[in-house]
Amino acid sequence: MVKQKKPNLNLKIGSLELKNPVMVASGTFGYAREFEDFIDLKKLGGIVTKTITVKARQGNLPPRTCETPAGMLNSIGLENPGIDRFIQEKLPFLQKLGIPVIVSIAAEETPDEFAVLVKKLDQVKAVSAIELNISCPNLQKNKLISQDVKDTIGLVSVVRKLTAKCLIAKLSPNVTSITQIALAAQSAGADAVALINTLGGMSIDVHKRTPKLGAWVGGLSGPAIRPVAVRMGWGGYNKIKIPIIGMGGIMDTESALEFFIAGATAISVGTANFVNPGITLEIIAGLEQYMLKNNMQNLSALTGRLKACKN
Ligand SMILES: Cc1cc2nc3c(=O)[nH]c(=O)nc-3n(C[C@H](O)[C@H](O)[C@H](O)COP(=O)(O)O)c2cc1C
Repeated sequence: MVKQKKPNLNLKIGSLELKNPVMVASGTFGYAREFEDFIDLKKLGGIVTKTITVKARQGNLPPRTCETPAGMLNSIGLENPGIDRFIQEKLPFLQKLGIPVIVSIAAEETPDEFAVLVKKLDQVKAVSAIELNISCPNLQKNKLISQDVKDTIGLVSVVRKLTAKCLIAKLSPNVTSITQIALAAQSAGADAVALINTLGGMSIDVHKRTPKLGAWVGGLSGPAIRPVAVRMGWGGYNKIKIPIIGMGGIMDTESALEFFIAGATAISVGTANFVNPGITLEIIAGLEQYMLKNNMQNLSALTGRLKACKN
């Protein structure tokens, strides 16, 4: 019997080269060191860091997370050490892993902060890509950049001029049409879009008659949002040309496959890391097995290969 060749999981997004398409979603994996006792970090496709801001942030009042019927609500509020301490204290560990490091960034007050952050990160060799978190629901702003076509174009085109590194725009599902925003990011020079950040949500303790989160409202993640995320990825795949990094409720190989078949080039795993810290490596192995079983040599044989139902 002829032994089938191992599938090739390599891919490229702009200048970002990944040995496999499974990453961890920003904010759910810290700065990776937190997970070193649980998994062989070197096997990941890439690591997306917790979002970093110019200055350190303490984050929102506790409680910052609560369970929901099929996922969790969070309102961390971008707690992070600030860009300078991140580069000095967190990046050396990440760099030693030898896998791509994607640094997620956000502005607290004005969009100019993105430019400050991108200029700094552009100088750092250990940074493989920059993810623009223009979709964080936990900063108590009236409007997010990714809730407006013009704001998205304005921001992405400014930072595009500041770096040749791979730029990923992370978008919010809390909009009328995420595809319109993805098209805006594409037109302004983003190399990829990451779909989706959390959906706005709230839970109430009826006995105390108080919100369950200190910030009252937060972002919903986990299996509850998966059909929304798959729908948004599929909708985008048919219209936009840049790669989609899919996420939202990926809990296992089967749910990861949904995203690829809908059109994702790569995926990020978020909430599932809290349930099973080894899930990403299980998904990489599961993906390889699925491709072997279905005679797929490359990821292009899987991405966007959705077929119509037969009646
Ligand atoms: C506790 C927690 C913290 C998060 N922090 C960030 C963050 O700092 N930046 C960001 O872009 N997304 C953040 N997210 C959103 C995730 O990266 C991801 O987009 C979202 O949770 C959907 O994926 P999931 O359902 O697999 O968790 C956070 C999510 C959770 C659950």
